[in-house]
Formats: sequence, C-alpha cells, structure tokens
Amino acid sequence: MSQQTANIIEMKDVYKSFGTLHVLRGISLEVKKGETLVIIGQSGTGKSVTLRLMIGLLVQDSGDVFFEGNSVKDMDEFALVSMRKRMSMLFQGGALFDSLTVGENVAFGLRAQGEKDEAKIRSIVTERLGQVGLPGTEDKMPSELSGGMKKRAALARSIAEMPELILYDEPTTGLDPIMSDAIADLILETRAALKDMNVTSIVVTHDMHVATKTADRIVMLHGGNVVGEGPPEYFEEIRERDKNNLKSKQEEMIRQFVRGEAVGPIMPQTS
Ligand SMILES: Nc1ncnc2c1ncn2[C@@H]1O[C@H](COP(=O)(O)OP(=O)(O)OP(=O)(O)O)[C@@H](O)[C@H]1O
Ligand SMILES: [Mg+2]
Repeated sequence: MSQQTANIIEMKDVYKSFGTLHVLRGISLEVKKGETLVIIGQSGTGKSVTLRLMIGLLVQDSGDVFFEGNSVKDMDEFALVSMRKRMSMLFQGGALFDSLTVGENVAFGLRAQGEKDEAKIRSIVTERLGQVGLPGTEDKMPSELSGGMKKRAALARSIAEMPELILYDEPTTGLDPIMSDAIADLILETRAALKDMNVTSIVVTHDMHVATKTADRIVMLHGGNVVGEGPPEYFEEIRERDKNNLKSKQEEMIRQFVRGEAVGPIMPQTS
C-alpha cells in the first residue's frame, strides 16, 4: 500500500544473511527526498548489500525496505523497472562495457531510456565527459583508459540520464586525492544541476574527505547495525573529542573509524 512520505527510502529492522554470514542485523535507516546521505563503515560491513537491498537487487530475510512507501520486495517486475528508471547506480568497480567506446558507454542509459535525438545525445556525452575530467575521450575504448579514468567514465555514464536518485558505491576508491576531491565536487555539482528534480544521492565511501564534503547526513554501519548517524559536524566533533570524553562504545567506534586508527573496538578486517 502506498503512503505519503518525505522519505524516498526507508529500511526498518532489516536482516540479511548469506548462509552463516550474518551481514545486516536489524538495520533501520531513512533516506529523505533531496538529501545526500553518506554511508560509511569498514570493508565487508554490508554497505553494498544495503544499496542492493534498496533497489531490489537483493531481498532481505526479514524487516522492510520501502521506496516511497511501497515495499520493494513486493514489487512486480513492472514496478521494479519503473522504480529503477528513476534512479542510477554507480556500481563499485564501475564496469564499462568493454566492446563499446567511452562515448557509447556514457550514451547507453540515454538510449535505453528511449532518447533518439543524436545531436542531443552527443552534446550530453561531451558535457558529462568534460565534467569528469575526460574531455575528448568519446572514441577511446575502455581498455585504453587507466583504472581511475574508467571510474570517471562510469560516473559520467551514471549521471547522464539525470536521475532522481543516484547511488554511488565507492566513487573514489583507487583515485588519487586530487581526483577524489574533483569527484566529490562533481557529486555536489550533479546535485546542484539536478536541483529542480530535488535529486537524492546516496554515497557509500571509506573516504572521510568525500563523506564530509558531500553529506547532509552520515550514517555509519558496523557489525550489521547503525552505530552512528548525524551531520558531518557530528562526526568531526567526535573525531576531535578527547578519548576520555567518549560516552558510548558507538562513539568510540566512530572516533576510531573517522581517525583511521587500527587500535580500538573495531578490529581490522584481515580477510
Ligand atoms: N551475493 C552474496 N553472496 C554471498 N556473500 C555476499 C554476497 N554479497 C555480499 N556478500 C558478503 O557480505 C558481506 C558484506 O558485503 P558488502 O559487499 O556489502 O561489503 P561492503 O561494506 O560493501 O565492503 P567494501 O567496503 O569492501 O565494499 C561480505 O562479507 C561479502 O562477502
Ligand atoms: Mg562495497
């Protein structure tokens, strides 16, 4: 049943396991229409799984995932396709189609959406490639690009269609700090460019610089649960707070993570 809601996505007490691996253990979170929500957390903590659940690429074991108040797991194929048409996901690894040129990769979603105006497609492709720092690469094949360039081309592809909801899974992993900052700017610019559509962005990242620069709100996951949630200033304040003034285990975890320290309640992931 549909209900009026300012949340574009809501997860309520969501559990997800793979065999004996209990990844999510009762996650509840809300994504407000128009905000940029950043999800942080250690490698393997279930960030990509969370994104996949949100768009129905995975189904939870229990709990609810709602898109505009409608249960994603109860959607039929038609409803899922209509929902996904309104969103775009930059997958971790950002794979390009190897047999298509960079330009055709960026144009792919536009064509899939039925855009037929070739001049318009060309101009959007040129603009997006320029925005990600890859001007003039339309005719190159993906194999001719470095890893970072591929990532940027994939980003250009994911924002080509002007979606209402953009999910960025690790948009800066493997990029140098300057390019990471440029991608953070691009996330902000994309939001500004899509302002009329009140675009919602979800950014999964390990990179605290990208997180604080782009987020309206940050959610930190650990051990299958949400351990902290608040504006970037909250995470910065905990980062700078004296160790002796931490009030909970959760705050200790946040401080350790945002400072990037190996010693603390979060054990380094070794596998
Ligand atoms: N389809 C699947 N089948 C089995 N296990 C899976 C599947 N998808 C994810 N996992 C496991 O679930 C755990 C969480 O994976 P996930 O990809 O969400 O982590 P992550 O937080 O995105 O990590 P990273 O920061 O390294 O990308 C991992 O241990 C992963 O191996
Ligand atoms: Mg991931």
